Amino acid sequence: MTGEDIHALKDIASWLNERTGIYYPEKKLDILKHKLFKICIEQQMNIKEIAALLMFENGSSSSSLALMVASAASTNHTAFFREDIWEFFKDVLAQTIKTTDKVRIWSAAASSGEEAYSIAIVAAELLGLNMLSKKVTMLGTDIDFQILKQAEEGIYPPDRMEDIEPDLRKKYFTELSDCSVKGIWKIHDDIKNICLFRRMNLKKRPYPFKQRFHIIFCRNVLYYFIPDERERIVNELYRVTENGGYLFVSVTESLTGMSTPWQRVPGKTGIYRKKG
Ligand SMILES: C[S@@+](CC[C@H](N)C(=O)[O-])C[C@H]1O[C@@H](n2cnc3c(N)ncnc32)[C@H](O)[C@@H]1O
Repeated sequence: MTGEDIHALKDIASWLNERTGIYYPEKKLDILKHKLFKICIEQQMNIKEIAALLMFENGSSSSSLALMVASAASTNHTAFFREDIWEFFKDVLAQTIKTTDKVRIWSAAASSGEEAYSIAIVAAELLGLNMLSKKVTMLGTDIDFQILKQAEEGIYPPDRMEDIEPDLRKKYFTELSDCSVKGIWKIHDDIKNICLFRRMNLKKRPYPFKQRFHIIFCRNVLYYFIPDERERIVNELYRVTENGGYLFVSVTESLTGMSTPWQRVPGKTGIYRKKG
């Protein structure tokens, strides 16, 4: 990389961190460059020009270039039924349903929708499809508007479908027969219709909700942020959670060392509760 490229990438990295919280340390600037390659080709711009335009727009995080850069820089890896939490989640949901007419659940870094749909499928298994929309609402948000389009479509290729048990796949997905590739599946409308997807930046606070959530999933995203920012995010999540509500972070992310009122659920890794 040339000195000019490094300089421009540092500017883009600090813009990203400032505006989205996505953090690229100096040793990962080559990865950032790689991720911006497609934008360079499509927009016919080099790294220096992208950096200059972002600075010129005075850090706006909603211009089309800004949205493209944030989308390219984020890592969207996700999976259906990721991590071994689903039996416990089902118990939490069963308890919560007894305390409220409608359970409000938020997948706060929803990516292409697998997490939100896994949650909705567990809820459907617990309640049955005819009660699902009466008893549960599901919001999925992400900073990346492009990945949210995939979430809204709810169509998944064969490799994504491998983590779903065959009987659940058969029950809640339809294989698309009009595709040239075999094994493309679409989530059923009964599940899709309880899930609403919207773009939202976790760094922008206060979060704009009129009603608090009973259960929040904020998994595999906290590592994007510097420690102070992580703490501010989990404390804002606390504010928008109902008393006695739950926060699921990833088993690899912990709130240990943070100044936060969240209480760890005994015996569970990455699961926290708000005082009831
Ligand atoms: C690795 S995926 C995690 C998806 C899912 N939660 C899971 O655990 O499988 C991280 C997601 O966080 C999103 N993200 C990154 N920074 C964000 C921010 N500031 N606000 C909201 N979402 C963000 C990325 O776009 C990406 O889709």
